[in-house]
Amino acid sequence: MGKEEPGPQGSEFTIGKENNSPTESRFTRMKKSDNSQSQLFATRLGVIAATVGSAVGLGNIWRFPYEAGVHGGGAFMIVYLVFIFLLGIPVLTAEFVLGRSTHRSVFGAFGFLKPGTRFKGIGLIGVVASLMILSFYSVVAGWTLEYFIRSFGDLFSKNGSDDFHRMFGEFTEGWRPILWTVVFLLINMLVIVRGVQKGVERASNIITPLLFVLILIFCVNSLTLSGAREGLEFLFRPDFSEISPSVVIGAMGQAFFSLSLGLGCMLTYASYFKDDTPLIRSATVTAGLDVMAAILSGILIFPAVFTYGFSPEAGPALVFEVLPAIFAQMPGGKIFAPLFFFMLFLASLSSTISMSEIMVSWLTRERGVSRRSACWLTIGIAMFFGVLCALSFSYMSGLKIAGTIEFNIFNIFDYTSSNILLPFGGMLISIFTGWQLDRNIVKKTMNEPKSWFNRFAPFVIFILKYVAPVMIFVIFVSNV
Ligand code: PFF
Repeated sequence: MGKEEPGPQGSEFTIGKENNSPTESRFTRMKKSDNSQSQLFATRLGVIAATVGSAVGLGNIWRFPYEAGVHGGGAFMIVYLVFIFLLGIPVLTAEFVLGRSTHRSVFGAFGFLKPGTRFKGIGLIGVVASLMILSFYSVVAGWTLEYFIRSFGDLFSKNGSDDFHRMFGEFTEGWRPILWTVVFLLINMLVIVRGVQKGVERASNIITPLLFVLILIFCVNSLTLSGAREGLEFLFRPDFSEISPSVVIGAMGQAFFSLSLGLGCMLTYASYFKDDTPLIRSATVTAGLDVMAAILSGILIFPAVFTYGFSPEAGPALVFEVLPAIFAQMPGGKIFAPLFFFMLFLASLSSTISMSEIMVSWLTRERGVSRRSACWLTIGIAMFFGVLCALSFSYMSGLKIAGTIEFNIFNIFDYTSSNILLPFGGMLISIFTGWQLDRNIVKKTMNEPKSWFNRFAPFVIFILKYVAPVMIFVIFVSNV
């Protein structure tokens, strides 16, 4: 685990702050480092591009519509929105506080703020969960590359939905998904190896705005379709009888996954924030744009689904079976199809970059590993497990443990990380920030001079102390 003596990065508590607690005095002993700048995001816009780029991904465009589709549309969306605003923004702010005040990785931050704390264990959850997500996520990102290429070729030789179902099945059962998983991870490698400013920030500055432009183009097109009304009603008219325990845990998992929360991803990004980056404001903007991307994705998909007579309950296949069938019938589909899969690829990339940073930042900052080696190690592990995830649709499908329990690594990684590790990590982060961390540090770190957002600080602290831990715990127990 991380060394606990003050590191080279410096902290906002280094200069000119009164020293009124033992924990704070640790900060005042630290020195600002001369060469820390390249380890920080250069601009405020870069901060938003990076955090929104991390948040907006397959979770919004692929997972949100199918989860909403399976769980009755509007009802799922309401529960999801409640989780985003009630838990998401406060926990996101907590991760920002831990990252920006320490400039350390998810392993280093906890021990640094409270030497000897057991909460350092959150680092382990973060690194394990990030590698699990990176593995199965890269498989799906690889599918988007295949469909992107195919949309210039044989994608339109099919017509009925059965054809597309068969095509997806044949593709995922073959060897090509393995190739695409590896290719995608290598592209990811090319970005992260360049470092925080030249790699992560620069890529996010390009990808994130482009993503929103593309989503908006698709939405406008979708709203002109004849099934627009039905699609929008499905998404926005809640049927509260649909809300069940599984909808609630699904929506909570989706909120955490979608905001990249609970595994220290946003903590890691916040460790690259400059000391004057406003936290509550950045958290609110990030969550707002993330929700917007999810809703726009719903607006993009459901009108089309209803126009062409498909069922919104297709599950994970929605984007890869139903949408191609729709593109095949839609005027201009030949242009929209490649554009759509390119958009999915970009969205995946800006998210996997952030997942990779969790381990890379730990290895480089706390373990003294060079950035290049840290990147290779992270990508290497993700490749190994990613290939296993890809194989769980083909050679390893139907694998059973002890002859009875189905062992599908892709599903196990997806379920364990989003529905268990992320909310659990989020609960621990809330407890640490709400109960363990020196209140002065929390208040000072959150303080945004002369900002309207300051009035939310007591609310955020209240949620972190009482609401988030209890709520996550109750939902867990009731699910078990
Ligand atoms: N927020 C991403 C999405 O919605 O697709 C997924 C994600 C990114 C999860 C980064 C976790 C993470 F660390």
